[in-house]
Amino acid sequence: MEKLGVGIIGTGWVSGEYIRAFEANPHTEVVGLVSRDKARAKAKAEAFNMPRCRAYDRVDEMLADPSVQIVVICTPNHLHVAQGIAAAQAGKNLVIEKPVALDLEGLRGLQAAVRSAKVKTVVGFVLRWNPLFEMIKGFLKDGLVGNLFLAEVDYYHGVGPWYAQYAWNIKKDMAGSDLLTAGCHAVDGLRWFVGAQPVEVFAYGNVSRENPLHYEYEPNSLTLVKFEDGTMGKVGCSVECVQPYIFNIALFGDQGTIRNNKVFSKHWKGQKEWATFPTVMPDSGDVSHHPFSDEVQHFVDCILNDRESHANLDDAAVTHEICFASQISARENRPVKLPL
Ligand SMILES: NC(=O)c1ccc[n+]([C@@H]2O[C@H](COP(=O)([O-])OP(=O)(O)OC[C@H]3O[C@@H](n4cnc5c(N)ncnc54)[C@H](O)[C@@H]3O)[C@@H](O)[C@H]2O)c1
Repeated sequence: MEKLGVGIIGTGWVSGEYIRAFEANPHTEVVGLVSRDKARAKAKAEAFNMPRCRAYDRVDEMLADPSVQIVVICTPNHLHVAQGIAAAQAGKNLVIEKPVALDLEGLRGLQAAVRSAKVKTVVGFVLRWNPLFEMIKGFLKDGLVGNLFLAEVDYYHGVGPWYAQYAWNIKKDMAGSDLLTAGCHAVDGLRWFVGAQPVEVFAYGNVSRENPLHYEYEPNSLTLVKFEDGTMGKVGCSVECVQPYIFNIALFGDQGTIRNNKVFSKHWKGQKEWATFPTVMPDSGDVSHHPFSDEVQHFVDCILNDRESHANLDDAAVTHEICFASQISARENRPVKLPL
């Protein structure tokens, strides 16, 4: 069988992980790289030893190549909608990095383009393939902690000028918000574990007094989410905190509690202390730590078997709606009903 051709837009930090993942997959081959500077795309193809990969400085030229069947969008956030719509209209299946859009209008436009083109999508909520996430999903499915009534997932990542995307990531029109650019991983985790529809959001946001990192948006937020089954959710997020990276998961059920890789359950008779399950934790902001190869393998399986991904654009749209609602709530100091 011929391999599925992959075209990647953006040659920055995360693109290397997608190149590695698609090159390692037996069903795919990276055949095109787009950068604003063709020489940079060419250099990246050489660095990854891909002599057959073509370098482009225009997205439309790569999209015109019929051997490209999957397009990966890993440019700065504000470009995802236009590039996603163009790629969908060209009939390409899409890997879209988070956030897929910075506002509701962009999100709906992208969803409409994907729906009418009938292409497959996966959004880069890569933690869904993290081993701790998978283990917790298994515990929840087995009823180990019963029905959840409270869930907290937090994203605390102190970034600074040393961070590759810092220059554009502090800008409101390029990054969006603390949740859209980073904390959406926690919002998505909250939804993934609770598994119910979110119906209302309330949030506060702020920036530290001196704003030493020059954020154009509030880099810290607390977001409360009410789910239709009554479960309460909380997402704490900070991208200006001064500390090592922390991703917290706390899930409270009527039969027990999960705190990251620790579990306490009524079903284990006589249990006195937390049971700890050593595994790969979501404890690093470094992309080389993230399971992109599992996300890619899942998406290739979806394409080959004509299945929708659980992390497709329509599913990811709900996560984005919580992020938008959080911004509206913090700005207008009121609860915001979902769907928007
Ligand atoms: N899922 C994850 O865990 C994860 C991790 C890191 C980054 N990301 C996402 O990936 C995207 C890229 O992040 P990054 O860290 O690689 O950023 P980066 O700044 O390292 O790379 C962005 C790249 O896009 C290029 N670019 C800018 N404008 C362009 C244009 N008009 N056309 C083509 N290329 C253009 C830049 O030159 C750069 O090579 C962001 O949306 C980010 O949120 C996701």
